[in-house]
Amino acid sequence: MCGIIGYSGKLQAANVLLEGLRNLEYRGYDSAGISLFTKSGLKTYKAQGRLSQLEALLGENLPEGQCGIGHTRWATHGAPSNVNAHPHASGSITLVHNGILENYMELKEVLLKKGRVFASQTDTEVIAQWLDEEYQQAHEPIKAIRKTLKALKGSYALGILFAEHPGVIYAVRKDSPLIIGLGQGENLIASDITAILTYTRDYLLVEENEIAMITPEQAKIYSPEGEQLVKREPCRADWDIGAAQKGGYAHFMRKEIDEQPHALEATISPRVNNGQIDFSVDHVEDAFLSNFHSVQIVACGTAMHAGMIGKHLIESLARIPVSVNIASEYRYSNPIVGKDDLVIIVSQSGETADTLAALRLAKLHGARTLAIVNVVGSSIAREAERVLYTYAGPEIAVASTKAYSVQTAMFYLLALRIAYLSGNMDTDKIFRYVEKIQAISQMVKDSLKTAPICKEIAADLVDSSDLFYIGRGLDYCLSLEGSLKLKEISYLHSEAYAAGELKHGTISLITEKVPVIAVATQSSILEKMISNMREVKARGGFVVVICQAGSNIPEDAADRVIYLPDSVKDELLAPLAAIVPLQLIAYEIASLRGCDVDKPRNLAKSVTVE
Ligand code: F6R
Repeated sequence: MCGIIGYSGKLQAANVLLEGLRNLEYRGYDSAGISLFTKSGLKTYKAQGRLSQLEALLGENLPEGQCGIGHTRWATHGAPSNVNAHPHASGSITLVHNGILENYMELKEVLLKKGRVFASQTDTEVIAQWLDEEYQQAHEPIKAIRKTLKALKGSYALGILFAEHPGVIYAVRKDSPLIIGLGQGENLIASDITAILTYTRDYLLVEENEIAMITPEQAKIYSPEGEQLVKREPCRADWDIGAAQKGGYAHFMRKEIDEQPHALEATISPRVNNGQIDFSVDHVEDAFLSNFHSVQIVACGTAMHAGMIGKHLIESLARIPVSVNIASEYRYSNPIVGKDDLVIIVSQSGETADTLAALRLAKLHGARTLAIVNVVGSSIAREAERVLYTYAGPEIAVASTKAYSVQTAMFYLLALRIAYLSGNMDTDKIFRYVEKIQAISQMVKDSLKTAPICKEIAADLVDSSDLFYIGRGLDYCLSLEGSLKLKEISYLHSEAYAAGELKHGTISLITEKVPVIAVATQSSILEKMISNMREVKARGGFVVVICQAGSNIPEDAADRVIYLPDSVKDELLAPLAAIVPLQLIAYEIASLRGCDVDKPRNLAKSVTVE
């Protein structure tokens, strides 16, 4: 969702801010703005729409100045518009905000009674005006910020400029991410590592309600209470700027699909030791993964779909009951969970508001919590008891692809370790399985060779208005993910069904040429899937099937067949091969329809509001 960048240094800030905002575009936004200290004072420029609108407003000769803040806004309070865009100003204060101020109406009424007038409909302007009130009393930025924080309820990351303090940026956060980028003679603030990678890979995490202050030479963090400085070791991002650029691809999504073999290798190899699964690099000790009654997996969207595969794997390999829960439901469901349960939280960004709230609830109930997260130092990674990082690198396209694959791979590793610790698999069995796991990266590389046939099939399907995905067991989980990928980026309506459910209602929608994508990778139920495909064909539907190499698909059951590579050595691993053509079909259809593949409408990469 919204993105923040701030810069204080030797370069022209407008350039740095615009570049930072470009690197934050993927988070999703509908307006953008910057403020900077110029020779003639603090100036603000903001525009509804894409960054190009803001660039047009700024013109060829960018305003000069070496310190400023920038923001991409994803509307929550007040429609996308020039006035509602950030930064917002009041008196000598100008600020940008990520998050949601829950008590903004209450605060606004207090301010209105004092005779204050509001220019926008945003909750953010309320913060600016409240801070201005406090600053007029305290005349000192840190004191005024600290007093303001006491009044705020909700989530926020704030970047603040005070007109009387040129060259200085103040920043603070609660429940929204914010980091300080450390450069040579320049420092930055940002909501996201990708925004600072051009300048530095060294950064400081800012903890809740600490107040950060940066100048070109200094980056200071003050504790939430009192004035003392906090000493903190910098972190080093191992992502490089190349990973966050398109590298010759038309879209990040297509590049990220191709990056899956590498991401899988990077995620799997550190956890394999002498043919066994070993999480000691993650400090997830065996005792943590032993002796629990049940596993509860909690996540949203694609991460939840990876969790569904995880349930199958843990149940079939370790024979322990697993439930999969949508985080936004779980958090309000009064879950039956306690100290004898393991709650696994899955999130690429580590910042998804519902998932974070579900984690906090599980902790409150005393459950063991384990996070599978891609972004190092994110809120979920910091708050879970243990964390297993996936090494997908930055995922820029809004539609998740490589993050899904590495989350799924992590579940293979976890399922095997839990199966061993629960006495369900011995070291020999694990050894044989691990050999297959180590071949996953090559298997996915082979699966990428389905790209040409996926492109052809996309051309067959592009004019459809409704599509259906069907599958059984693991293939049903894949169908849900394939369908989500298609609808989010192509805006075509699609639905996924457990194949056996089709005839309990939905089959009435199958008429001449309605496309049905059947995922049929499991040989034990292939015959059942073929029957379901025939039911569709009998009603005139157009069937595309994704199946194992060598599967016998009768001519009357499918119109097009996508065979997975013969390097799929175990059916339990087939999801990681089969997801590739599903992603490619969605991508090719969206491209043919001319959609903004990487930044689909209304969507945000990191969903930091409920
Ligand atoms: C879909 C997609 C979303 C995310 C969901 C959770 O392609 O990306 O469904 O999976 O918003 O996000 P994270 O994994 O960041 O918690």
